Amino acid sequence: MKKTTCDIDYGNQHIPLSVRKYEQKYVQECGGWDIGLPHISYANVEVEVARFYYSFINLVGAKYILETGTNTGYSTAMIAAALSIKDPDGVLYTIDINNIPKIFENEDFTNVRFLIGNSITVSIPDNVQFDILIIDSDHSYSTVMRELIRFEPLLKTGGYILMHDTHYFDGVGLAVSQLCDNPRFEKITLEAPRYHPNGRCTGVSIIRKNNEGIPLLFFDDEYAAVNVYEDETATGIQESYINKRRQRRL
Ligand SMILES: C[S@@+](CC[C@H](N)C(=O)[O-])C[C@H]1O[C@@H](n2cnc3c(N)ncnc32)[C@H](O)[C@@H]1O
Repeated sequence: MKKTTCDIDYGNQHIPLSVRKYEQKYVQECGGWDIGLPHISYANVEVEVARFYYSFINLVGAKYILETGTNTGYSTAMIAAALSIKDPDGVLYTIDINNIPKIFENEDFTNVRFLIGNSITVSIPDNVQFDILIIDSDHSYSTVMRELIRFEPLLKTGGYILMHDTHYFDGVGLAVSQLCDNPRFEKITLEAPRYHPNGRCTGVSIIRKNNEGIPLLFFDDEYAAVNVYEDETATGIQESYINKRRQRRL
């Protein structure tokens, strides 16, 4: 018998035990991860953000996803788990310049292809059109913009880009601002439940690619060095960008 929507499992059953166990280290009050209190790590996305990825992937019915920034594989595991719900042929390509132990190492994620290398140069399959790009590597303008310029042509029309840390890292915010300026894309940035001592929250941007073609994304040399936080180092360039960002509520 064909499954009705009510029969489909959208819940925890697809999330491996190792991942749910890892989530017990999450400290909801600050949106960080307990690595031996009082020390908190912010290397993984918030649980709420990972669960949002999980639902979003289901909502749009993604099959091919590219992620930059695997780290210990927390977001990777959630994306892979979401992909496996509806489509056994779905594949997640995830890139990291470092190969550190993954939280899902003992789980059987046959739909994950881990690519070790710099996201700007690592070989990726040239015959895949992605449904979603998830950008979460080093958060500098230079890397983020180069990733977008490289991977956006591989994103299908109507596909999505998810970006973490828009409000926190100026490099990410600036790249999101360029997507916003380009009429081929539309975007919204959601607040995320992680606040840093300087009052900035991380934020998650959802960008939809509405059209192919021009204007192409481009690397703006003026912003090449932007990767710091406004409260700590504010150059003239960042000031003007930050003001622009404030006006637009990026
Ligand atoms: C914020 S962590 C990613 C967190 C992960 N998405 C999660 O939620 O579990 C950033 C990762 O990006 C990687 N990275 C930094 N620069 C990179 C680059 N140019 N290419 C590929 N990976 C990079 C780092 O090694 C690090 O593991």
